[in-house]
Amino acid sequence: MGKYIIAGNWKMNKLPSQTHDFVKEIAKVTEGARCEVVCCTPYVCLSEAVKAAEGTHVKIGAENLHFEDSGAYTGEVSADMLVDMGVDYVIIGHSERRQYFAETDCTVNAKTKKALAKGLIPIVCVGESLAEREAGVTMEIIGIQVKKAFADISAADAEKVVIAYEPIWAIGTGKTATSEQADEVCGGIRAMLAGIYDQGVADKVTIQYGGSMNAKNAAELLSMKDIDGGLIGGASLKSADFATIVSSVK
Ligand code: PGA
Repeated sequence: MGKYIIAGNWKMNKLPSQTHDFVKEIAKVTEGARCEVVCCTPYVCLSEAVKAAEGTHVKIGAENLHFEDSGAYTGEVSADMLVDMGVDYVIIGHSERRQYFAETDCTVNAKTKKALAKGLIPIVCVGESLAEREAGVTMEIIGIQVKKAFADISAADAEKVVIAYEPIWAIGTGKTATSEQADEVCGGIRAMLAGIYDQGVADKVTIQYGGSMNAKNAAELLSMKDIDGGLIGGASLKSADFATIVSSVK
């Protein structure tokens, strides 16, 4: 299965002036991690985050990017800018961006291709709403999101993508998917990738679970067959909780 990655998604939290010390703290408390450790921070924190992570095992990610190289896109940030800063990862298509900032499967695909072309590792988020789960169409919804995200992406590039399965009803709600529910969808995503590419590619892709993963439930979620890590919101803002999640990777 894919390599294990635990990534924090700070969302719109922490200040640039708090970032250096916090990333240093994360590096300290996750030393000896058996997985990749990533902090995805607001744009304005990235410079401090990259400096603090230098010489440690911690990798830094952004929470978004624009799909064009440059130009008249006021307020946007390009892949080249992130690469120039020393950023390694970028979250794409988080449900909050789809919900509040009109991200679509098409922009997710364009951003994923741009990230790959520039050498950034995309963490592509997919997930169903509560209404969709209750209507029994979870796998159909995830199927569309995955197929569209990977449109026109070669097998060699697809292997580098990280997918985060984040049921929208579990994000920030304290309502975690059961480990069986989460593993069923992550396994379904792997089967989809095997269908689009082949089993070899599918096995190399890291598939994370995200949605109220915390210090208490991480070990069980991370022990499941098709869950290769986590995308952590709230619990990534407390170093002790984040460290416990990281150490839950066996
Ligand atoms: P949460 O957020 O851990 O606070 O539920 C996860 C995410 O949105 O990536």
